[in-house]
Amino acid sequence: MKGLPEDFLWGGATAANQCEGGWNESGKGVSLIDVVPYGVDRMPVAKGEKIMLDCDEEHLYPSHEAVDFYHHYKEDIALFAEMGFKCFRLSLSWTRIYPTGLEEEPNEEGLRFYDEVFDECKKYGIEPLVTICHFDLPIALVKEFGGWKDRRMIECFMKFCRTIFQRYGKKVKYWITFNEINMLNHLPFTSCGLVAEEGEDIKNLKYICAHHELLASARAVRLAHEMMEDCMIGCMLAGGSFYPYTCNPKDVWQAKQTERGNYFFIDVQSRGAYPNYALKWMERDGITLDWEAGDKETLAAGTVDFIGFSYYCSRCDTADPEVSANRMAANAFRTVRNPHLEASEWGWQIDPLGLRVTMNDLYDRYQKPLFIVENGLGAKDTIKEDGTIEDDYRIAYLREHIRSMIEAVTEDGVPLMGYTMWSPIDLVSASTGEMSKRYGFIYVDKDDQGNGSLKRRRKKSFYWYQKVIRSNGMDL
Ligand code: BG6
Repeated sequence: MKGLPEDFLWGGATAANQCEGGWNESGKGVSLIDVVPYGVDRMPVAKGEKIMLDCDEEHLYPSHEAVDFYHHYKEDIALFAEMGFKCFRLSLSWTRIYPTGLEEEPNEEGLRFYDEVFDECKKYGIEPLVTICHFDLPIALVKEFGGWKDRRMIECFMKFCRTIFQRYGKKVKYWITFNEINMLNHLPFTSCGLVAEEGEDIKNLKYICAHHELLASARAVRLAHEMMEDCMIGCMLAGGSFYPYTCNPKDVWQAKQTERGNYFFIDVQSRGAYPNYALKWMERDGITLDWEAGDKETLAAGTVDFIGFSYYCSRCDTADPEVSANRMAANAFRTVRNPHLEASEWGWQIDPLGLRVTMNDLYDRYQKPLFIVENGLGAKDTIKEDGTIEDDYRIAYLREHIRSMIEAVTEDGVPLMGYTMWSPIDLVSASTGEMSKRYGFIYVDKDDQGNGSLKRRRKKSFYWYQKVIRSNGMDL
């Protein structure tokens, strides 16, 4: 069997807000995620409560220190290099560069930090893959504009893009505009800073936010191509195909509808126009967008070069209300429980073959190269008396997913640029703010209450992944 291409980009993925810390250092402004606490108040939108826009004394804010990549980046990148990484996906903290998003000039110290990170990567021959916006925007813009519901966000974002393309264009070849753009349906505050006023229709607002992000994404793609020769810029979907619960055509139709709700965003980013099904459902649901002259042309002119996606689990849907009541977590999505699958400790169902299904679905649909930019298992780890961490469950999860990924490439012919697992180093969980939901090959000594020395430690999976990369996926 022929294996993966020689230049396959093996690596790992992180996000600034979940690993950097240094939340108010060297001129950095406050990000949206910096006011999102650990604990029961983390997701107030879901509970219909008021969103907090400032920190208080009562709460713990995990992003403030996170795992302190800000001060440990040299050590962390050296560990990634030891595993043989060819690629490191990271995101930029907007507020390190534009503290409020409204300044005319960027913060030089913030820009310098990422210069140093990219130089460190280069030292080891690691290609950075940069997410411009990963659940991260200045809180000042949330306060000023209510997040992406305001069209003025586009210009703020473009100013940010112009600065980073100019500064890092020679160091960074691979870019992603928005992390998991479809997540705005499920986590509208975290994802796009959406704050709805009394009486505003939240469903409509979500699509207005989406429209602005889609326009911003298209303009960023175009600008990237103008400013950086040879760059590749992609979209990013929270992926995982939807299965019909049974072969009852009603279930099949329901799963298709839900799946389209998911694909809508990247359908626009990769094809350059709103799909007919979306225009129809917006008409039916009375959703109105603030279309302006030139918007259609903007979308058409900024289609992405590749399809980035995360994959943690597949999903399932049904038309039967009784079955539908039996739902469980699948990332921020609620899915009908699939009786054929086991689940992680956090209830995310494990489906390695689903990755092959998803890759085929995405390639059939878009005919563009794919990039798996997140895949991993959140689990509790125990340090044994001799100091080792035997995370065989993580190895088992990754082994089966990588096997399935290789089959999609070698058996089905799906073009795949790379695989950056989530996350090579333990970091703050996006959904729960926990540290105990660990994904890493590298353990970080820190607990949910923020205690710990931040010491890094290699887990068993560290050595396993090193072997996988060395053999280009042949030795699993
Ligand atoms: C993805 C996000 O949805 O899932 C990451 O892009 C996130 O930011 C990852 O961390 C895993 O989710 P969680 O909630 O376990 O951290």
